[in-house]
Amino acid sequence: MTCGLVDLILAGGTLVTPEGMRPGAVAVKDGRIVAIGNDAAMPPAREVIDVAGRHVIPGAIDVHVHFREPGFSYKETWTSATQAAAIGGVTTVFDMPNTNPPTADAGAVRAKLALASAQACVDFGVYGYIGEGNLDQLAPMVETGAVAFKLYLGSDNPLVPCPNDGAVLDALAILAERGVRCTVHAENTPILAWRGAKLKAAGRQDLAAHLEQHADIATVEAVSRIALFSEWTGCPIHIAHENCRHSLPLIAAAKKRGVDITAETCPHYLYLSMDDAPRTGDLALRVKPPVREAGHAGPLWDALASGVIDMISTDHAPHAPAEKRRASIWEVAPGFPGVETSMRLMLTAVNDGRITLPDYVRMACEAPARAFGLDPQKGALLPGADADLVVIDMNRDSVIRGEDLHSLGNVTPFEGFRTRGLPVMTFLRGQLVAKEGRIVAPPGIGRPVRARRLRGG
Ligand code: NCD
Ligand code: ZN
Repeated sequence: MTCGLVDLILAGGTLVTPEGMRPGAVAVKDGRIVAIGNDAAMPPAREVIDVAGRHVIPGAIDVHVHFREPGFSYKETWTSATQAAAIGGVTTVFDMPNTNPPTADAGAVRAKLALASAQACVDFGVYGYIGEGNLDQLAPMVETGAVAFKLYLGSDNPLVPCPNDGAVLDALAILAERGVRCTVHAENTPILAWRGAKLKAAGRQDLAAHLEQHADIATVEAVSRIALFSEWTGCPIHIAHENCRHSLPLIAAAKKRGVDITAETCPHYLYLSMDDAPRTGDLALRVKPPVREAGHAGPLWDALASGVIDMISTDHAPHAPAEKRRASIWEVAPGFPGVETSMRLMLTAVNDGRITLPDYVRMACEAPARAFGLDPQKGALLPGADADLVVIDMNRDSVIRGEDLHSLGNVTPFEGFRTRGLPVMTFLRGQLVAKEGRIVAPPGIGRPVRARRLRGG
């Protein structure tokens, strides 16, 4: 190696890539990986950290989080959320546009990037919103640095309403031309509205009513429609929070005929079902789309293994604890925190033999970087890549407790879950950010990421 004196070496551990695992070391200089290989072949370093008995993986990339600012600082702040992320082994996040104001024009993108830059301790990207009234802002948002766009096909949120299909086609054409991926909340808004009104009129207040509102067909239809629109316009799309076994054949078929479609699922759809409601309480489990009956998780795990679902995200959606504890299910804020618990839940699946550690690195690091054009800078243990590194201890047992989480909205349906496997050190571009559940870097070291142009159609 000819890189002279380097800043840092993580030595003596096991390096994990999607291709496999091997003993070795990683050398870091000026925030980048400069060498990977046998311990004996490493250059001299200012600091060597012995990670014997542990694994080194790239930092996880979570392309679906709601960090709430501007507008909802009482639910979460960029400081609290990115601290939770760093402790959870997540080094890059993409923030959703349902803030207040929504991220719907170039000025809002600029404002959110500034707000995040002042607080974040992990790197970040910002989503732009697609609506009927802001089609002329899509290109300026790309130029201002929006990394991707969010299409709410299923929405009852007046801040981010669902655009009509004509506007959707126009938006996808604009993004196709610029090679930017569009992430889709794939549910059919009129079905949700109609069923919701009917269930409310019938006096239903329970979690099962929330599930009945979000019937399987509402998501199956929307996945099918958006795959068709993607094929027609050439716009790369990404299915958010995939949760329903009946959608999976549609995604598989679209991939097979060459549609540029990727998909994510989240730990709650893999680990939980309506059968968990007695343990979590109805309220903690409310999320959109819903956690469904038992019988969906198995096919979702299979789809992850086969690559029909490409990646793990969290849909980190914290709310103030009081907003989760209202009497009627319709009034309970949907969603819960996820960035701090996702990696340890997935490492538990590795320990249980459900997936391998290289699989996890593919799903959490490589696939999101590739899908959204962050590679080769992010998501890889390769010379030249950013030194976003996580040291994990596969033997560490812990119990998830809401009160231990760093999010301000810490009501979690994983309360009391036993996990095995834990991120114990997180480095962002070579700088140690979190260690053993504590933050050791100041706010504001996170930077915006730039996505390269995707091929598009
Ligand atoms: C999201 C939130 O709270 O921002 N909640 C959720 O249940 N996923 C909003 C949403 O995506 O509907
Ligand atoms: Zn979401």
